[in-house]
Amino acid sequence: MKYIAQPQISEEEVSLVTQTIQSKSFVEGENARTLEKEFADFVGAKHAICTVNGTAALHLAMEGLNIPPGAEVITSAFTFIASANSICFSGGIPIFADIDPQTFNIDPEKILSLISPKTKCIVPIHIFGLPADMKAISDIAEENELKVIEDACQAHGGRINGKHVGTFGEIGCFSFYATKNMISGEGGMVVTDNEDLANRIRSLKNHGRGPSGGYHHHFVGYNYRLADPLAAIGLIQLRKLPTMLEKRRKNAEALRSTIRDLDTLYVQTIPKRVTHCHYICAPVVQSPDLSVDAVIKELKNKGIASRRIYSVPCHQQPTYLNIKNWRWTKFLDYPDYSQVRLPETEKIASSHFDLPIHPGVSSEEIKIIQKVLIDLFT
Ligand SMILES: Cc1ncc(COP(=O)(O)O)c(C=O)c1O
Repeated sequence: MKYIAQPQISEEEVSLVTQTIQSKSFVEGENARTLEKEFADFVGAKHAICTVNGTAALHLAMEGLNIPPGAEVITSAFTFIASANSICFSGGIPIFADIDPQTFNIDPEKILSLISPKTKCIVPIHIFGLPADMKAISDIAEENELKVIEDACQAHGGRINGKHVGTFGEIGCFSFYATKNMISGEGGMVVTDNEDLANRIRSLKNHGRGPSGGYHHHFVGYNYRLADPLAAIGLIQLRKLPTMLEKRRKNAEALRSTIRDLDTLYVQTIPKRVTHCHYICAPVVQSPDLSVDAVIKELKNKGIASRRIYSVPCHQQPTYLNIKNWRWTKFLDYPDYSQVRLPETEKIASSHFDLPIHPGVSSEEIKIIQKVLIDLFT
């Protein structure tokens, strides 16, 4: 079976991990520092701070920016649940805006209509590796004095006019989870140009310690450090990232060109001057005669894994339908999420499926997928 995701690990990762373990460097150390430096250079940010995962990066972003309990934070519901949950950790209230049906990213017009006196922050997600409309979002944020935390957990290599995502807002957050464009197994990164914020986040992720470490603590902080053997994997992966992105691009472009010729399927539209980094290729079925499940089944018969990754958008997850069970509910007013209607999100959630495009997918396998799609949709 060709899996949807498959870590691309070679002798180089194995060698650096082995070396790191042999030198007994288990806690965050030299590899983590080098990874931070090279990641900052890669995205063009002044500071990069590695974290234990992408969820922790998002949590640190909320706390680093001092988003207060009760603040409304506008985000998308067509995403992995961590985008919304990390808003809740420190008492933020996720307010879900609908997506643009062409890009599957948060629709700036919908953000505008949800801004209230309680709104403090916007969390755009560069979904599937396609950058959100950061120009419109930044303008809205500036006019309304809102902070922007970019959830770039799926978007290593995503750019707008050559500028890497994660560097448009106050903070950008990345994940190095095992399925991502680059991995460390579990891992993440916060990037920012703001030195004070970077220092605060460095401290928050390390039990509120100062730069010299030790047992003096200045904030109630967390232990969100990245183990050095994992940072070793991340470092080698980052160096291989351009090559891996190129393979993803070739696979995705081949499928996208087939899909473009089919009337009853479509894929994310890539706006001009935007670089999609192809974390996920997820066509949407427009034919009433064909169920997504039938497509997934047919692909499986041909040895190709597929799924509807976000078939239940965040606002319809039991987490949010049962928000009364969450500890902050005693103190804060959450919306009744069962009343939230996001027509475009709900439509795409029920009609998309994703296809393997990772660097381990061969051109022969791409041909098999193309044939299945053509056979089913013509
Ligand atoms: C959009 C998005 N946000 C946040 C996360 C959380 O990252 P992690 O799994 O590293 O905690 C992920 C990763 O799966 C993600 O895809």
